[in-house]
Amino acid sequence: MTLRHPLLAHQRTNVQGSDRPIIGGTAQRWITWNTKAGHVKIINYISRTIPDDMNRRKLLKSFALSLGGTIVSTQLLARTGEGAYEFAIPPNPLHKPLDKPITAITLGAGNRGMVYGGFAAGNATQMKIVGVAEPVPYRNDRYAKIHTIPDANRFTTWEHVFQRPKFADAIIISTPDRLHYGPCMKALEMGYDVLLEKPIAPTERECRDILALSKKTGRIVAVCHVLRYAPYFVKMKELLAKGAVGEIMSVQHLEPIEHTHMAHSYVRGNWHNSKETTPIILAKSCHDLDIIKWVIDKPSKQIIAMGDLKWFRKENAPEGSTNRCTDGCKVERECPYSAIRSYYDKRQRLNVFDLSADKSKHADEIMDRLKTTNYGRCVYRMDNDQPDHYITSIRFADNVTANFSMEAFTSYAGRRTRIMGSMGDMEGDMNNLVINDFRTGKQTKLTPKAEDVEGYANSGHGGGDWLLARDFVQAVSQQNPALLTSTIDESIESHIMGFMAEESRKNNRFMDIKINRNKAV
Ligand SMILES: NC(=O)c1ccc[n+]([C@@H]2O[C@H](COP(=O)([O-])OP(=O)(O)OC[C@H]3O[C@@H](n4cnc5c(N)ncnc54)[C@H](O)[C@@H]3O)[C@@H](O)[C@H]2O)c1
Repeated sequence: MTLRHPLLAHQRTNVQGSDRPIIGGTAQRWITWNTKAGHVKIINYISRTIPDDMNRRKLLKSFALSLGGTIVSTQLLARTGEGAYEFAIPPNPLHKPLDKPITAITLGAGNRGMVYGGFAAGNATQMKIVGVAEPVPYRNDRYAKIHTIPDANRFTTWEHVFQRPKFADAIIISTPDRLHYGPCMKALEMGYDVLLEKPIAPTERECRDILALSKKTGRIVAVCHVLRYAPYFVKMKELLAKGAVGEIMSVQHLEPIEHTHMAHSYVRGNWHNSKETTPIILAKSCHDLDIIKWVIDKPSKQIIAMGDLKWFRKENAPEGSTNRCTDGCKVERECPYSAIRSYYDKRQRLNVFDLSADKSKHADEIMDRLKTTNYGRCVYRMDNDQPDHYITSIRFADNVTANFSMEAFTSYAGRRTRIMGSMGDMEGDMNNLVINDFRTGKQTKLTPKAEDVEGYANSGHGGGDWLLARDFVQAVSQQNPALLTSTIDESIESHIMGFMAEESRKNNRFMDIKINRNKAV
């Protein structure tokens, strides 16, 4: 069957597979189009089990919408109101059943190591963790126990893993920012495929070295740009590629960090000092630059950035405040950044404290951490240097422009994006995506149903964490990096944008962006 997609009228669009969904069975359909180069590209895929109780008329309507409409796609789960739909991203048709799980060694069993470890634990047929390197005994023990790792495969630091001959398919690098380059280069040299936490590395030269070595060795480096796998952003990208708003003119993107998250991570926490980690435009916002670049899908040309650390400074410390919130601070009860309020009263973001399993001990343990770690220090008296507001403007090819704001001072989190096009606009907050079509005057609201990470509610990057892990498993198993959307090749551009933004911010000038992937620095 051949039909013409209204927005791809110059190309042939083919629909293959079962044309009639079977009630109580599985309907499958591939929609492909022939590119100018003559290749056939899958642009959509349906595979869903149709519940017996779903009535046929409703079902046919959802398929008709998917084929006839310009914006509503095929993976509709349910109509939730006038012009409103819930959707999910269906299984990738290129995924294959595995004969055996891939094996992996985790370097850094902290927060992110636990996320990917959690995927392995929940999906034993896909991934098996066979080794760990982690200097904190509590975390090393916890990881070894969850994954039944033999003592011989437990190490205190990443270097020790590579003193042994290769003993797994892949390495998961979830060490701190400054400890990505060393293990990644070593892993590639030894023939491992790599799941590499972002940021790739703190300098452009190191990022380019990793790219060059992955090309030379032919190994896979999957960068954890997890938002590329979140159904919400996958759908946004797909709709834009199909022309749902016509030609993209400009993008506005906001990363509202939320004031307490800022205080936790970038004032008191692991990323408070850019020299010890990476500048916040990479540490926090390489995701945002990456998503902007990914959805616009054109080369970036120029960038300019401004921003400062304005509030979390010594001169703003209120009278009566003390070095630690627990030192008898006179304003602690009214301070929005109080560590006691955040960690003790509200029990927020406790994963950094390695608390014991026995909850009755938590109150004492939290108080102890507030008295002994950076997490109890006054936000105005830290040795922090990360900007608390940061704006960036980017010019892409064909004069498409984007504005990005990273803001610490919000009461809410969740990225907001607005996309302005010649035939419509799109607006989303990661919960809903609203598309207005200027041609029809119609509005469509799409709500993703994402698989989130257990115990990591609202922080699993809209489901992207585990969906990336799933694609990584397939890429390693099939030895095919094309199963990933965030290989190092794909991801390096947004990092270079970040390095250029930081240079622009510091030197107060416009920067040209030169990507050339074959260039060494
Ligand atoms: N993809 C994302 O959205 C996302 C989100 C948060 C963090 N990150 C990145 O993931 C990485 C890890 O962040 P995290 O939040 O898990 O931090 P974390 O501090 O919780 O975990 C890092 C772990 O590495 C361990 N480590 C330190 N030195 C080591 C060494 N020499 N060998 C082995 N392990 C060592 C630490 O003890 C710690 O347990 C960072 O680069 C961070 O920027 C990515």
